[in-house]
Amino acid sequence: KIGTVAEDLGYNAYVVGGFVRDLLLQTKNLDIDIVIEGNGIRFAKELARRLDGSVRTHEKFATATVILPDGQRLDVATARLEYYEYPAAMPTVELSSIKLDLFRRDFTINAMAIHLNPQHFGTLIDFFSSQNDLRERRIQVLHNLSFVEDPTRIFRAIRIEQRLDFHITRHTEKLIRNAVKMNLFDRFSGPRFLGELKQILSEDNPIPALRRMAQFDLFQFLWPDLRPNLKIDRRFVHVLTQAGRAISWFKLLYLKEKCEPWIVYLLAIYSRSRIRELINFCKRFELPEKLEKTLVRQKAAADRIARDMLHRPHMKPSEIYWLLQDLDNEGLLYLMAIARKKHIQQAVSRFVTELRKVQPLLSGHDLQEMGFTPGPLYRTMLNHLIETQLNGEITDKKTAREFIL
Ligand code: CTP
Repeated sequence: KIGTVAEDLGYNAYVVGGFVRDLLLQTKNLDIDIVIEGNGIRFAKELARRLDGSVRTHEKFATATVILPDGQRLDVATARLEYYEYPAAMPTVELSSIKLDLFRRDFTINAMAIHLNPQHFGTLIDFFSSQNDLRERRIQVLHNLSFVEDPTRIFRAIRIEQRLDFHITRHTEKLIRNAVKMNLFDRFSGPRFLGELKQILSEDNPIPALRRMAQFDLFQFLWPDLRPNLKIDRRFVHVLTQAGRAISWFKLLYLKEKCEPWIVYLLAIYSRSRIRELINFCKRFELPEKLEKTLVRQKAAADRIARDMLHRPHMKPSEIYWLLQDLDNEGLLYLMAIARKKHIQQAVSRFVTELRKVQPLLSGHDLQEMGFTPGPLYRTMLNHLIETQLNGEITDKKTAREFIL
């Protein structure tokens, strides 16, 4: 359908980037990026009209997102012929729009397209020997200024390398090292780097990527405060590994609650630092204020609780309950990661799977029926009730009533 709509408008349509890469690697990728030689916005509107979808346009960038009735999203961009800013680049005259569009991308393996117009449907377009790089599992840039143009690509290179088990070529490695030396980072916006970091910390196992980042000296940029004590040493790896275990454990519980692994990892990275340093990080990468507050609160509480619990292997269920009830899921998993004793992890596990689900056997309504006037006293009574329930002293409504009376 995409190809037909483009054809009818006199345009060429291509699917490009990660989708093509993953198609050739036979891995799943649901992000579809379309490039149009022509007017991308006009195309997107027409496609949405014919497929009963909706469309969001960004005129400034000549891009649009089409959302189909089944929820599938298509990102549409316009390939335009423009002068290439760098004199060292290929002569512009030689480039068709799609070629120039692909040439501006991050790595050769992401710079392939598949033609979608009916007569050419399925034709793979590979100007830069990308298939070869894919076969050889190589990550390399298309031109030497790639990282200068966009230093977030350094993080992308590392993420893709670790995720797909590829390797960054020597030349591209050198370009990364040069870009790091040039200290280009300050000129670029915090949120874009944060986006990349979030993606790295959301991988199944981010530790190899973190090691790679350390090799490229990127920690000094990400975590300048941590420089003296943040090394990929045993303790650091241990805490991150524990964080990974806690996250996998939590996922296996199939709870409907949300938990963002990248937050757990970020807290784990800051486990040996002071709150001040975490705040500095938040400011530097312009985290939303609400998120900054949450992070700080979780770290402060979990660090304190970890110390508190260290020498208390025999806590009553109610003690565990009151201590842990203010932590979010991320804070709980972080606590598991930094715990130096098994009993702490067991307590958190028990809290998540069992204790925190305990509801008081009586409701406010019950209390009213028993003759109590509604007010703040209710909370206190119900808290007392929960406490006895948690410790297994009360298990039915009748005894609960007697207890309250
Ligand atoms: N891209 C780029 N430079 C960037 C980011 C993206 O050139 N800094 C290009 C790449 O060609 C990439 C495409 O834009 O393939 C789409 O970007 P994105 O959806 O972020 O990445 P994918 O490669 O599609 O997917 P993944 O996140 O799985 O790597």
